[in-house]
Amino acid sequence: THQWLGVIEEYRDLLDLPEGTPAVTLREGGTPLVESGWLSGETGASVWLKVEGDNPTGSFKDRGMTTAISAAVHEGQQAVVCASTGNTSASMAAYAAKAGLKPLVLVPEGKIAAGKMAQAIMHGAQVIMVRGNFDDCLTIARGLSEAYPVALVNSVNPYRLQGQKTASFEIVDLLGDAPDLHYLPVGNAGNISAYWMGYREYADLGRATRLPRMRGFQAEGAAPLVTGEPFPEPETKATAIRVGNPASWKLAVTAAEESGGGFAALSDDEILAGQRELAARDGVFVEPASAAGVAGLLRDARAGESLAGRTIVVTVTGHGLKDTATALEGFGHLVDNIVDAEVGAAAAAAGLRA
Ligand code: F0G
Repeated sequence: THQWLGVIEEYRDLLDLPEGTPAVTLREGGTPLVESGWLSGETGASVWLKVEGDNPTGSFKDRGMTTAISAAVHEGQQAVVCASTGNTSASMAAYAAKAGLKPLVLVPEGKIAAGKMAQAIMHGAQVIMVRGNFDDCLTIARGLSEAYPVALVNSVNPYRLQGQKTASFEIVDLLGDAPDLHYLPVGNAGNISAYWMGYREYADLGRATRLPRMRGFQAEGAAPLVTGEPFPEPETKATAIRVGNPASWKLAVTAAEESGGGFAALSDDEILAGQRELAARDGVFVEPASAAGVAGLLRDARAGESLAGRTIVVTVTGHGLKDTATALEGFGHLVDNIVDAEVGAAAAAAGLRA
C-alpha cells in the first residue's frame, strides 16, 4: 500500500524550490476529481469538480503552504506572517505548528468565518484583527516582514505558487490531458496564476496537448479584475474573496488573456444559490466563495456559451464546514421542524403517509 506523499514529494522535480528544501507536509494535494452529474446535465459538457476542501486544513491553500513553510524552514526563519480572509491563516498556522515556527496572522476584523478563526487559534497562531480589509492587512504584513524578523507567506511569496500549480498537474494526470475550460473563484488572484503556470509547464513537457481557457469569477462587490479598478471597500458574503486590490493582478490578467479566458462578476445571490445547489444535488458542500466557479459555469451555460461536448474542470476551493453561519443564515428556515418526541409527530411533520 502507498500513501499519497504530499505535493512536494509527489512532484519535487517539477517544483522550483531551493536545493535541499525539506518537506513539511500534512499530505496535502491528491484531492478528488469528482464528476458532477448535475453540472454535466446543465451544460452538456463533461464537468469535473476539483474538490480542494479535502485538503488537510480544508482549502487549496495547503498546496502552497507546504512549499512556503518548507522554504522558510530551509532559510532558517523562526516566524511567519500572513494577511488573510481566513483560509491562508488556517493553513499557515497548521504548517507553522508542524514546522515549529511562530505563526502571526492579520485578518480583517469581523469578516472571517468562525471555522477559520478556530483553526488559526487551535494551531497556535497569534491572531491580530485589523480595523480594515484584507488589502490593508496585506500592506501591514508586507511592512512587518520588511522591518522585523518574520517571513511573509502570502502568495506574493513565489514558493506559494510553486505548490499551488500542482493542482493542474493532478488534473492532467487524472484526465490524461488538460480540460478545455477551467472555472474557479478569484480573490487575491494567486490561484488562477498558479493553475495557469502548472498547465503551461505540463504542456511544455509534452504531458498535455492543449491549454484550457481560464475563467475566473469574482463577487460583484469585490470585482477589480472585471472593472479594471481596485475596490477600496470590497464587500461580499463570500468573505474568502473579499479582496479589493489583488496582489497577483498582472499574473491573473496574463492567465486570462493568454488562455483566451476572462473574468466576470456574480451577485452574492448567484454564488449562494450555486453553493446550495452543489451541496443538494452533487453532495459536495463548499464554502460560499468556493461556489463562484460553479455559479459562473451556470451563468455561461444560460448565456448560451457553447459548452456541449467539452471537458470542464471547476475548482471548488474550500470546505463548507468552514462557514456554517452563512449557510444557516440563508437556509436556516429549512431546519425549524420541531416536534414532540414521537413517531406520529415526526411522520406528520415530514409529510409521510403509510
Ligand atoms: N476560494 C477560497 C475558499 C479562498 O479562501 C480564496 C482566497 C480564494 C478562493 C481565492 O483565491 O486569492 O488565490 O485568488 N483566500 C485568501 C485567504 C485571500 O486569505 O485565505 P486567490
